[in-house]
Amino acid sequence: MDDLASLRSELIGAAEAAADMNAIEELRITALGKKGRITQMMKGLGAMDPAQRKDAGAALNKLKNEVSAVLEERKSVLAEAAIDAKLMEEKVDVTLPVRPEREGRIHPISQTIDEVVAIFGEMGFTVAEGPDIEDDWHNFTALNIPPEHPARQEHDTFYLPGSGDNGGDQRMVLRTHTSPVQIRTMQKTQPPVRIICPGRTYRCDSDATHSPMFHQVEGLVIDKTTHMGHLKGCLIDFCRAYFGVDDLPVRFRPSYFPFTEPSAEVDIGCTREGGQFRIGHGDDWLEILGSGMVNPAVLENCGIDSTVYQGFAFGVGLERIAMLKYGIPDLRTFFESDLRWLRHYGFKALDVPSMVGGLNR
Ligand code: PHE
Repeated sequence: MDDLASLRSELIGAAEAAADMNAIEELRITALGKKGRITQMMKGLGAMDPAQRKDAGAALNKLKNEVSAVLEERKSVLAEAAIDAKLMEEKVDVTLPVRPEREGRIHPISQTIDEVVAIFGEMGFTVAEGPDIEDDWHNFTALNIPPEHPARQEHDTFYLPGSGDNGGDQRMVLRTHTSPVQIRTMQKTQPPVRIICPGRTYRCDSDATHSPMFHQVEGLVIDKTTHMGHLKGCLIDFCRAYFGVDDLPVRFRPSYFPFTEPSAEVDIGCTREGGQFRIGHGDDWLEILGSGMVNPAVLENCGIDSTVYQGFAFGVGLERIAMLKYGIPDLRTFFESDLRWLRHYGFKALDVPSMVGGLNR
């Protein structure tokens, strides 16, 4: 039994001092392996008389369990220490400033989307999104633009090859406006609806004021008593908040869109005096968005009862309002990825626009 006591203190001492995983494994083999010291002693039990064997067996079992518990314990201590060491080694100080010569910029379109979302978010709108590749039905027919409708010509549509080339609702197109997101939202949800849909849109056109890919934000509000007064209030508030001019003149001019009736284009007051363009007061007007009360035919196409619900919609070209606000003269430069342009017109990453913190600084 004395033997056992000294073996115990030897093994446990060694286990507690084991420096690494290899040392632990070695010790396990020496003590508990097939030819290990404890295993050997257990093999000797057979030669003892029954009374001796019972006590010695119990003592050996206890020692075996104790040694393996200490080895396991030591293993987990070492594993934890290894993780700590690795973490210390890989530590990154997130409070260090970024390298100023490498500072990135937020693209004016991203910034403008954030500003528009901040303004409408404050009014209770949520953001909805839809696919860039649409079918003819969602992009046109459901919006009350049937085949052969003259409005289709104005859209300079990119048609995708091989998708019902002879026309029809299944033909695939690159969406020409974000209005199909209205359709998808109304198909999925019953009113009340209050959404804005920012996103990419495509038309086959390219010059200083047109790009084959550009961005729009569309808005849609549907409820039982939504009326033209809400449309006007909402869009006047938006224009004034976006351009940061509290008394910006806003004019609603009758217009036509197949999906709204009545329809109105929205102009803001500006001046071009002395060759200088300025937004705000003045004797001139500049068109910035399209709007109207959703045509009941569109509601019915989406399974919404037009005798119960009504609402308004609007669409804004994001490049256009970004160019106006930030004095960017050519639309094509938005997509040239010229770093000098981005440094000049881009925004700091941490200047996130909000109605409380300010839209842009
Ligand atoms: N979808 C229209 C366009 O791209 C804009 C618009 C949207 C007009 C909603 C009125 C209402 O021309």
